[in-house]
Amino acid sequence: MAKKKLVILSGAGISAESGIPTFRASDGLWEGHDVMEVATPQGWKNNPELVLEFYNQRRKRALEVVPNRAHEICAELEEYFDVQIITQNVDNLHERGGSTNILHLHGELFKSRSTADPNLVYEMDGWELNMGDLCEKGSQLRPHIVWFNEAVPLIVPAMELSEKADIFIVVGTSLQVYPAADLINYVPETSLKFVVDLNLPAVPDRKNLFMIQGKATTGMQKVLETLLERKAHL
Ligand code: OAD
Repeated sequence: MAKKKLVILSGAGISAESGIPTFRASDGLWEGHDVMEVATPQGWKNNPELVLEFYNQRRKRALEVVPNRAHEICAELEEYFDVQIITQNVDNLHERGGSTNILHLHGELFKSRSTADPNLVYEMDGWELNMGDLCEKGSQLRPHIVWFNEAVPLIVPAMELSEKADIFIVVGTSLQVYPAADLINYVPETSLKFVVDLNLPAVPDRKNLFMIQGKATTGMQKVLETLLERKAHL
């Protein structure tokens, strides 16, 4: 029998236990910066050096951390299900945790992109991207990140995957950023839905919805156990 389709929508909370801070800290700043300064096209126009340095520091940090049990469980689920990750995270901890199918809705920290041609995307070797680093057409490279006020190119495939999910798991996201926050609304009524978070986000009550409050590692363990118990009936 074909494996059931399981989609995981992850956010910053899944990487928190690996040591990457989440975005919405109580002071409203990201690592001491106003989001408009470092994660918008306007910020890039005003001060590209600052933006490059901000993402260099994020990359440097990402290289120091390792995937946690929650990332590993996402990968282990592939044994039983046809798993697709949709992540808002720009780190590569799902890849390093062993997952195969990963859609990065908000871009990827370890890729750069031409400012002249958005189709020119490059893998990065190390953590540094600097002024003067150019694409093959001679234009400055920028981080391959979807900034605020920019379109989300992969949202349509993400919606299509959500519509086809037999099981949908939301883990570690405040669901405050659209259009990602809307994806759960595309999941069929009959499908199983889990929301795992330290501070559960508000989600409209629906059929087959399980809310699990806790850390991503312990919450995903509960999801794994629940799914394995019910597997025969799915
Ligand atoms: P947020 O910082 O908004 O939310 C993180 C969520 O993780 C919150 O709901 C926390 O309660 C939860 N959390 C924190 N620690 C946790 C833990 N150990 N276990 C489980 N949950 C935990 O991050 P996102 O929802 O991912 O976009 O933010 C969405 C987008 O906003 C990001 O992708 C980013 C930002 O703009 C870009 O960079 C383009």
